[in-house]
Amino acid sequence: MKYAKFPRTDITVSRLGFGCMRLPTLDKEGHPIDRPEAIRCIRHAIDNGLSYVDTAYGYHGGDSEVLVGEALAGGYRDKVTLTTKLPLWLVHEAADMEKLLDEQLKRLKQDHVDFYLAHAVNNERFESVFPMGLGEFMDKMKQKGKIRYAGFSFHDDAETFRKVVDYYDWNLAQVQMNILDEFNQATMKGIEYAASKGIGIVIMEPLRGGALTRNVPDTVKDLYAAMPVKRSFADWAFRYLYDRPEIVTILSGMSTFEQMEENLRIFDSAEPNCLSPEERELYVNVRKAYEARVKVGCTGCAYCQPCPKGVRIPEIFRAYDEASVFDSFEGFYGRYKRNWAENVCVKCGACEKACPQHISIRNWLETIRAEVDAH
Ligand SMILES: NC(=O)c1ccc[n+]([C@@H]2O[C@H](COP(=O)([O-])OP(=O)(O)OC[C@H]3O[C@@H](n4cnc5c(N)ncnc54)[C@H](OP(=O)(O)O)[C@@H]3O)[C@@H](O)[C@H]2O)c1
Repeated sequence: MKYAKFPRTDITVSRLGFGCMRLPTLDKEGHPIDRPEAIRCIRHAIDNGLSYVDTAYGYHGGDSEVLVGEALAGGYRDKVTLTTKLPLWLVHEAADMEKLLDEQLKRLKQDHVDFYLAHAVNNERFESVFPMGLGEFMDKMKQKGKIRYAGFSFHDDAETFRKVVDYYDWNLAQVQMNILDEFNQATMKGIEYAASKGIGIVIMEPLRGGALTRNVPDTVKDLYAAMPVKRSFADWAFRYLYDRPEIVTILSGMSTFEQMEENLRIFDSAEPNCLSPEERELYVNVRKAYEARVKVGCTGCAYCQPCPKGVRIPEIFRAYDEASVFDSFEGFYGRYKRNWAENVCVKCGACEKACPQHISIRNWLETIRAEVDAH
């Protein structure tokens, strides 16, 4: 395992972090958590050098924090840096912030966390919740010893990212970045800007929720196959990120023991500045090959859920994008008719307000339904 230091802190962590949003579960819909397996994974990772654990109020319907508290009992807490996040969408007045943090500490069975992040910051939340005194709240919680450092996780555009970076003396910014997102959301330039201000960068969705390892199109496989060194798809995707010295740690949601073991192996050689010029060119070409095929671009974060009408948006989009990548629409149409046809979108738009990717969800649902009806 390789390690890196958060600038302007006394904290050094493993470059692979455990993202507790996609823990092993008993069913494929993401619940309930397979508790013994999730605890086994987290503890095995820690026993093998992982030292950063990321959770949040809402993950696994609120159960992720409870599970993390259980996994970190028995001495494991002392071996990790622990991060959780303030659910900004539940903050209606300033007093809600500390109430939520207290509830989270109780769930986690902790008296403090190392990093506390404003969760899923976007322009709307920046303008509505931050003026309630978010910065003052973070200062106060540091003084009370409930949090050590403050940060934010982010889903919006590069312009908003800069505004948020400049708002407070943050120690951590958590951003979505992977081979496909160099110019999306915070952007790689935004990451460089935050790092220049002494903010440690944490990456989420490094495998785009797993999509970069699943059903990889032939055009992309050929590009990887032409390289002299052979690596797994996950390895290529992580390598693109751990090359960057600004990036302190890369969170992976590890849904199986095998994935966790592979990721531990990959991060044994996660050295910054490792890419050759040929590898840099490879990533540009891989991005182009993907961009030529993906239609919706949903990452499956499920912030749009639950839909009031029960439309399983992330499942539909994931299946549709996979069908687009592989040109395998017949299988998709059958699956749609079996699983998703009954729940019809009424275009209320609640999903689009919550979507960090700003996907035109209603239009896509309509387009896809029309395609299915025509087959
Ligand atoms: N703050 C926020 O707004 C926010 C948003 C998103 C995420 N996060 C945090 O960031 C963490 C990381 O994001 P993420 O979970 O999307 O990470 P990710 O690494 O992009 O995706 C995780 C998924 O990738 C697949 N995977 C992992 N390792 C693999 C391997 N070695 N080989 C093949 N497939 C592998 C698994 O999917 P399958 O088993 O389904 O294939 C797994 O569920 C989250 O867990 C969460 O803690 C925060």
